[in-house]
Amino acid sequence: MTQAIAMIRKEHHNMTRLLDLLERQVDLFEQAVQPDYDLMKEIVDYFLTFPDLYHHPKEDMIFRRIKKRAPASAENLFDLEEEHERVSERLHTFTRALVNVMLEAEMSRDSFVAVARDFIEGERKHMAEEEKYFLPLAMDTLTDDDWSAINAVVADFNDPLQSEQALRFRSIGAHLSG
Ligand SMILES: [Fe+2]
Repeated sequence: MTQAIAMIRKEHHNMTRLLDLLERQVDLFEQAVQPDYDLMKEIVDYFLTFPDLYHHPKEDMIFRRIKKRAPASAENLFDLEEEHERVSERLHTFTRALVNVMLEAEMSRDSFVAVARDFIEGERKHMAEEEKYFLPLAMDTLTDDDWSAINAVVADFNDPLQSEQALRFRSIGAHLSG
């Protein structure tokens, strides 16, 4: 497995665990129990900072190379760049809802829960499809030269949760290391 694929899988693994943590907080909120808002906000900040800005573009780069090597196969796959736009929109919608709830704006419990679940389920489905269709296609299609070029670039876009200096996300990082 190339370095880039291993990196993407590890990032998916971390995101999956963060979504599980987030879902537990949403379940509490739904049951009218006060959730850990700071934890929720830190998870959202992480999704805005890393997957939205750095993880998805790495995948987009791989997808563009698949399009060049095997246009017909890329055509049969979902349009990854468009998918990432939709994932980003759901994240931003959820972020606005979370901030509004934290700032005591009027919002029904049901609407917040619906937006939160839409984000969580959308992320899970998106990652599952990438793992099932996109990553195998990338491994089948791209050449050693492609991987050398990709690995050289993606190394500069490391997951802050996997960095020793990741002070910004240390509280959610502590949840992952357990
Ligand atoms: Fe991904």
